[in-house]
Amino acid sequence: MNDRDIKVVGLGPGNLDYITGAGIKAIQESEIIIGGKRQLEEIETLLKNQERYTLGKLQLMKEFVLENLDKRITFIVSGDTGYYSLLTYLKNNFMDIKFGVIPGISSFQYLFSKLEMTWEYFSPHSVHGREFDYIKALESSKNGVILLTDSINNPIEISKVLLKNGIKNVEVIVGERLSYEDECITRFDIKDYKGYEREYLMNVTILRKI
Ligand SMILES: C[S@@+](CC[C@H](N)C(=O)[O-])C[C@H]1O[C@@H](n2cnc3c(N)ncnc32)[C@H](O)[C@@H]1O
Repeated sequence: MNDRDIKVVGLGPGNLDYITGAGIKAIQESEIIIGGKRQLEEIETLLKNQERYTLGKLQLMKEFVLENLDKRITFIVSGDTGYYSLLTYLKNNFMDIKFGVIPGISSFQYLFSKLEMTWEYFSPHSVHGREFDYIKALESSKNGVILLTDSINNPIEISKVLLKNGIKNVEVIVGERLSYEDECITRFDIKDYKGYEREYLMNVTILRKI
């Protein structure tokens, strides 16, 4: 990796215990750190004199990066760099730049570890701020589907849609605020979803075929 490459580091689920050593090194060696508010707060204890840039409008970030190409820049993204991260935008918008990418533990990988389960027969997708045909994905998966979920496309709404479409044999597993002190993992049979209706905090959901 070239010293002047822009680095992109996966934070993991959030708690600093889960970031890689390579990720910490990249952060500490950089002059500018760019990330979302939550990511920057999490790594605060690793930082010294680095300039912090909080992500807002992507166009402004793009201009900021182009003005600072002579500095060592590191982006910090949540979870893994390879799973619905800013890396796609960066690759599409900075065609001439080479990125040094340091992966992290995805929120769903962390959740599977807590469940003492493997995920090779589950298919990973996202409904975070996007529509996705999870019914079709569930039907064609062997063991089930993993979904990055949000406050609109949340586990309860998804349960209702599945039931409306006649899909009953599913366990819903929700991992909230994973790796933090208030982490919460909730499991229910989709048929019982009414007993689990509430607001879920930042979460990832597994639809497990049963
Ligand atoms: C922009 S996506 C980034 C996904 C990330 N690259 C990953 O590998 O987990 C944000 C989504 O990740 C999930 N997520 C990230 N961190 C989480 C955590 N600590 N607990 C639960 N879900 C999390 C949520 O589904 C959230 O809506």
